[in-house]
Amino acid sequence: MTRTVAANLMREDATLRQVMQRLNEGVFGVVFMVDRENRVQGMLTDGDVRRALLAGSQLSDAAAPGMNRNFVVGRSSAPHAENIALLSDRIRHVPVLDEKGRLVDLLSWAEMLRIPLMQPSLGGDELKNVSDCITSGWISSQGDYVRRFEDQFAQSHSGGHAIAVSSGTAALHLALKAVGVGAGDEVIVPDLTFAAVANVVIHCGAVPVLADVDAETWTLDVQQVAGKISSRTRAVIPVHLYGHPCEMDGLRDLAEQHRLRVIEDCAEAQGALFRDRQVGTIGDVGCFSFFSNKVITTGEGGMVTTSDPDIAEKVRTLRDHGMRPGKRYWHDHAGFNYRMTNLQAAVGVAQMERVDNFLRRRHQIGERYIERLGNVPGLIMPPRQPWARTIFWIFSMLVDSDQAGMTRDQLCE
Ligand SMILES: Cc1ncc(COP(=O)(O)O)c(C=O)c1O
Repeated sequence: MTRTVAANLMREDATLRQVMQRLNEGVFGVVFMVDRENRVQGMLTDGDVRRALLAGSQLSDAAAPGMNRNFVVGRSSAPHAENIALLSDRIRHVPVLDEKGRLVDLLSWAEMLRIPLMQPSLGGDELKNVSDCITSGWISSQGDYVRRFEDQFAQSHSGGHAIAVSSGTAALHLALKAVGVGAGDEVIVPDLTFAAVANVVIHCGAVPVLADVDAETWTLDVQQVAGKISSRTRAVIPVHLYGHPCEMDGLRDLAEQHRLRVIEDCAEAQGALFRDRQVGTIGDVGCFSFFSNKVITTGEGGMVTTSDPDIAEKVRTLRDHGMRPGKRYWHDHAGFNYRMTNLQAAVGVAQMERVDNFLRRRHQIGERYIERLGNVPGLIMPPRQPWARTIFWIFSMLVDSDQAGMTRDQLCE
């Protein structure tokens, strides 16, 4: 019996108070009353408890008299699809009983409607590679998969340097440190992004300065960035949001003019192209995330890319406690432990073998959504500039509630 199923069972002699407490703790809003042999006798919902109380019962009275004995049940011997077909907007829960009448599963309408935002695809060599780490004992950051993963990533990003780290946030933090961002500096970041981008600036002792994004790309607007530059500005972090690249030409010109470092946040955009260039190869540094909802995943993990050998060396050193390469326990900088483990990299190697398929499939699905939803009044499709190749990371839309006749939240519901 699963924990979910067990959490929905109560003995027949339970009181209304006990049933209410259980309903309050559970997620399904229903309990099943069972006899001593665990055979289901009836079902109780919030509504049944309320009706019993309104009819004069006390909280200390037995709940069983108010239970519903006549409800739709699925059979464990029936095919799963047949049991699911019993659910409807009227029948929200279907208990699946075995031949003795004991609850073995609980199907819920809400669960069936759940479409996951992202599910990692781990059906390649991931398990084989991880098993290899376990059987060989190479589970820390010292193993061979880390180097292999970095090589694969570098190859697919113009052959520059690729340094595997423990998260996308660690990648951003190391990138800022490696280009020398420190106390008193300012770093321009978009006002629409994930919090990690501003957090790492603060962790460097610097000040994040927010610049607005533009409506066409949902990424940094070069004019807005220009208006935020001061004598303290040291760097700018264009975030290729939701898989669509920033307009990098204008940004790079501006950065050159003001001697700013450009750190691309590619956490949501691995494989996206600005003109014909991969994101992460355009600025001084590129930062990637391999959290489980990203294009490829290592569970948690990240990568720093750069064509600058000095930045690469700095990142490698800072990732490993600031220890000088080739001179163990000699620490030139106060570094971090931001290393990726061999276990994570083992997953990453297998993921990289399939990344082209992941990107192709994202495209098919993204185009399909646009084909079907693009003409619905009030729905504004995600950006797709002619100079860009988006990767549709978490297909996102804007809702014009006047045109759509409903708000965003109503649409979500
Ligand atoms: C734009 C952006 N930057 C940075 C991060 C941080 O990456 P991580 O969760 O791997 O630390 C994320 C991801 O969640 C992100 O979406």
